[in-house]
Amino acid sequence: MAKLFPKLVSSLAVLLLLCQFGYVVCQSTNPSDRNTTLPADEETALDDLMITLGLGLLLSSPCDNNYRGIKCKCPNENNAVCHVTGLDLSNLELDGQINATALASLVHLEEIDLSHNQLYGSIPDVTMGNLSSLTSLDLSDNFLNGSIPSFLESLTSSLGYLDLSGNFLIGSIPSSLGNLPSLYSLDLGFNELSGQLPPELGRLGHLSYLGLSSNNLGGKVPENYAKFTRLQWFSVAGNRLTGQVPRFIANWTALSYLFLSGNDFEGELPLEPLFNMSNLRYLFVSDVRSSAGFPFPKNANMTGIRYLMIRNCSISGEIPPYIGDWSRLTYLDLSFNSLTGGIPDSMKKLNLSKMFLTGNMLNGTVPSWVPDTIEDKADLSYNNFDDGPKKGEGKLNIQPNRNSIRDLKNKCRGKPKYDSLYINCGGGETVLDGKVFEADSTASNYYPAPRENWAYSCSGDFGSETYDSSDYIKNVDCAVCDSAGTLLYNSTRLCPLSLTYYGFCLFKGNYTVKLYFAETVYQSDEDYSNLGRRVFDVYIQGKRELKDFNIKEMAYGTNKTWTASFTAYVGDDHLLNIHFFWAGKGSFQVPGFSYTTAALSLNGPLVAGISVTAKFKVGGKGLSPSKIAGITAGSVFAPLLLVAFMWKMGWLWKSELDEITIEVQGKSFTLKQIIDATRKFSPKMEIGRGRFGIVYKAELPNEIKLAVKKISPHSKQQGKDELQREIFNMKSLHHENLVQLLDGYSIKDLHLLVYDYMHKGSLHHALFEPNSTTKLDWKARFGVCLGIARGLKYLHEEKRFKIVHGNIKPSNILLDNSLTAKLSDFGLATLCDEEDPFMAIKAKGSRVYMAPEYSMGKAITVKADVYSFGIVLLEIVSGKVSADYTPNQEAEFLLDKAGVLYDKGRILDLVDKKLASSYDRKQALTVLLLAMKCVKLSPTLRPKISEVVSVLEGEKRIDEISESDDTSSANIGGLCGACSRVLEIEPIS
Ligand SMILES: *[C@@H]1O[C@H](CO)[C@@H](O)[C@H](O)[C@H]1NC(C)=O
Ligand SMILES: *[C@@H]1O[C@H](CO)[C@@H](O)[C@H](O)[C@H]1NC(C)=O
Repeated sequence: MAKLFPKLVSSLAVLLLLCQFGYVVCQSTNPSDRNTTLPADEETALDDLMITLGLGLLLSSPCDNNYRGIKCKCPNENNAVCHVTGLDLSNLELDGQINATALASLVHLEEIDLSHNQLYGSIPDVTMGNLSSLTSLDLSDNFLNGSIPSFLESLTSSLGYLDLSGNFLIGSIPSSLGNLPSLYSLDLGFNELSGQLPPELGRLGHLSYLGLSSNNLGGKVPENYAKFTRLQWFSVAGNRLTGQVPRFIANWTALSYLFLSGNDFEGELPLEPLFNMSNLRYLFVSDVRSSAGFPFPKNANMTGIRYLMIRNCSISGEIPPYIGDWSRLTYLDLSFNSLTGGIPDSMKKLNLSKMFLTGNMLNGTVPSWVPDTIEDKADLSYNNFDDGPKKGEGKLNIQPNRNSIRDLKNKCRGKPKYDSLYINCGGGETVLDGKVFEADSTASNYYPAPRENWAYSCSGDFGSETYDSSDYIKNVDCAVCDSAGTLLYNSTRLCPLSLTYYGFCLFKGNYTVKLYFAETVYQSDEDYSNLGRRVFDVYIQGKRELKDFNIKEMAYGTNKTWTASFTAYVGDDHLLNIHFFWAGKGSFQVPGFSYTTAALSLNGPLVAGISVTAKFKVGGKGLSPSKIAGITAGSVFAPLLLVAFMWKMGWLWKSELDEITIEVQGKSFTLKQIIDATRKFSPKMEIGRGRFGIVYKAELPNEIKLAVKKISPHSKQQGKDELQREIFNMKSLHHENLVQLLDGYSIKDLHLLVYDYMHKGSLHHALFEPNSTTKLDWKARFGVCLGIARGLKYLHEEKRFKIVHGNIKPSNILLDNSLTAKLSDFGLATLCDEEDPFMAIKAKGSRVYMAPEYSMGKAITVKADVYSFGIVLLEIVSGKVSADYTPNQEAEFLLDKAGVLYDKGRILDLVDKKLASSYDRKQALTVLLLAMKCVKLSPTLRPKISEVVSVLEGEKRIDEISESDDTSSANIGGLCGACSRVLEIEPIS
C-alpha cells in the first residue's frame, strides 16, 4: 500500500507542472475571482519545509490547488490572505528532515501530521512555541532521534493530541508535558525512553489515552495517576516498571484498554477490583513475580472483556467458571501460571478465537468442544491433559505435555550417548568450524528430531493477522555475510513467546553451551521493523543466564552476529534444557488491531544456532575434530566407525520401526516397510557384499527401489558423537557421481544404511562378470572414467572437509540406468583408528587397489585414492581384472603389464580386445597415460584429481598437468605389485 504513494506524489507533481505551463485548466476549478495568496513568508517557509522533508518544491500556490495534505484557511472576503493551518503529510515515504525554523514560521498551524514516513533527525526544536494554535502534533512512526525537547512546555494550552510514538527517542519524559492542560491523547510508545514516569502527568485531567508501552521506563506508577478518571487507554507494556500493580487503576472507571504486561511488577495482582471493571475490553498483565501463588477472585463482573491475558503471574487454583459468562471474550491467555483442574464446561458458550493455556498443571481430558468452538488456535501444551481429540489438530496444540519430555528423557534409560549437540536453528544442515549443525527447519510447534537426541517446542502467538506459524522461521539471504558462519545465520528460529530446546541422552558432566544470535528480523526500514526492540530471557538448565537480552544492542546493530557461551551441568537425567522466553519486554503490539507497522509484532525469542560440547572426555579415545577435518594416517576404512554408529543409534526400539520414516522420491516409508521390502533380508534380495555387511535390494510400492546395507555388529565402540556427525556428513554429500546415502539407522543389533538403488549394479559386474547384460562401449567407459574422477574431485576438493574414499575399486562403483558412475562406500573412511589401514589391507580383494603408502606406514592423503583410481582406469580400458596376488597361483598383474608396455611405448596394446577398433585412440591414450601418472609410487608425483578431470574434460593436455621430475617408469608398475606381495609375506598384526 505504502508503495503506491510515491506514484501518487509524482503524478501530482506532473499535474502541477502541467498547470504551471497552462496546459491543464486547473485554475478554473477554483473561483478565479478569489485571491488565495499565501503571505510571502509562509510561502517561503512552506517551500523550505517541503524541500527538507524530501517532497520537493511546491509549484503552485498550495491553497489554490488543494494540494493534498496542505490545508489552508482562507477568509471569505476577496483579497483575503490565506494561512496554512494543517499539514497532513502522513504516509508519503518522506525521508528527509523537519526544518524546525520553517515549521515554526507557519504560525497558524493547527494540525501537523507527518506520521508514518521515514523522517530522521531530531524533533523540531526551539521556536515551536510560536505555534500558538496547534492542537494536534503527530510525528509517529518515523526514525526521529534525540530526546523529547522541553520546548513542548511552551506549546500552548490548545495542544490536545501529541503522538511521538514509534521513533528512536531517548532520555526521559519531560515533566513539562504535565503543563499541557488540554492534552487528551499522549502517545510516546515504541521509543527508547528511560527514567521514571513523571508524576506531573497526573495533572492531565483530560487525558483519555496514555500510551507509554515499549520503552525502558522504570520506577513505580506514581500515586497521583489515580486522578486519571477519564482514561480509556493506558499502556505501559514492555517497560521495566516495578512495585505492585496499583489498585487505584480500578478507579479509572472509563478505562477500556489496560496493558500492563512485560514489566517488573511484583506481588499479588489486584484481580478482584480489576475483574469488576465492567468497561474493560482489553486486560493484559504478564510476568508479575509473586512469591506465593494466588487464585482468581471468587466473583467477577468484567462483562465487557474481549481480550484477556494474565500470563506468567503465579495464578493458582482452577479456572473460574464465570469466564463462561464473558460472552464477548474472543482471546484468552492464561498461560504459564499454576492452574489446576480442567477446562470449565461453561466456556463452551464462548466464541473464542484464540485460547492459550500453555504451561499450567491442567489435567483431565480435553473437552470435545474445544476444537469445534475455538476458531483459530488453542494451545494446551505443557499441561497434563490426556491426549485430546484428534480432529481439529491443526489449531489444537497439546504436545508436548509434561509427560512427553519425560518420556523422551526416559528413552535414554540411563544410557547416555552423546557428548555434544549442534543445531542450526531454523535452517538446514550446515557445517561450521568443522561441526555439522543438524537441520531444524520445521514450522511446527513441537518437533522431536528423528534421532531423538533433541527436540524443540515453541508456543505463543504473534497476535497479528499478518503473521502465522510460517513466520517461526526467518530466512534471510546472506544477511550476515561478514561471518564464516553465514549459513548458520541465514536462517533463524523465531518464536512468539516460549522456545525450548531439549538435548537428550547427554553424558553427565559440564558442557559449554554456545548460542548464536543475529537480529535478522527487526532490520528493515521499509516495514518499520527497524524500530522494534526484541528483548528476551535465556535460561539454561533452569538458571536465567541472560535477562532482558537484546541481540541488536549486544551486536551493535542488525544483521550482526553475537555469540555467548555458558557452562551448564547435565545431571543424572542426561537432559539439557535451553529455554528462551519473552517476558513481555520491548516491542509489544496489541493483538486484534491492524497495524501499519505489523512487522513489529514478530517479537519473541530468536536464535540462529546452538552448540553444546562436553568439557570432559568421554571414555576411550575420542577423535579430535582435526582428524575429521584433515586427512590423517588413520583415516581410511572404518569398521570401527560403523561399530560406533551402531552403538550410538542402538537406543531405538523395535516398536519404533513403525515410527521412523524415510523420504524417497517424495514418498515416505517407515523403516518397517523398508525392511519388509527386502523380504526381511532374504538372500534372494542380496545384491552385494562389502567389508561391513551385505547389501540388499528393497522393492517398495510404485517401483521404488532402495539399496539397504545391513551391517554386522561389532563389539568395539568409539567415536560417539563424531560418529553421528560422520553420518550427517555422509548424508550431506550430494553429487551426481556419488550414491546418495538417504539415511542411517540402528535399532538394537540391527544397523542399516539406506542408499539410492543403482539399477545396473556395479562396474565390476558390468566389466568382469560374464552374466552381465550391460554393454560398456568406449563412450560408456570413457564416461565412467570421467564420472569417477568427478566424484572423487567432489570428495577431495569441493567439501569443507577433505574426504579420502579409501576404497576405490570397481565393485564400489555403481552404475545407474544411464550408465553414470556413482561412487559408493565413501565417507566411512574419515573416521577410524590408526590401525585401520592394516585391517583394510587384510580385507581380501582390495589389496591391489591400495596405494603403496598404506603398507609403508606413511600418511594417507587423497593421493591414495588417485592411485586406486589409476588402477581402475587400467581395468576399464583393458577390461581385465587387476588380480590379487594369491600364493601359489599364477596371476597376471595388470599393473606390471602396463608398466612393461608403457616402457616399450606400446601402451595402447592394453585396450580391451572386445572393443575391436571401435574406440577413440586419442582418448584411450589419454586415459592410459593418466592412469600411469596416477599409479606413481610417490604420492606427491601423482596428479591431483582435479587435474585428472580437466584432462579428461579436454581443458588441459596431459603434459600441462603438474609435471613430476621423474624420468623413468621404475617407480611405477610392478614395484607396487611387489608391495602388496611384501605385505602378504609379512602380515601385520
Ligand atoms: C492578491 O493579494 C495580494 C496581496 O495580498 C495583492 O498584492 C494582489 O494584488 C491581489 N491580487 C488580486 C488579483 O486581487
Ligand atoms: C529552513 O528554513 C529556513 C526558513 O525558511 C531557511 O532559512 C533555511 O535555509 C532552511 N534550512 C534548510 C536546511 O533548508
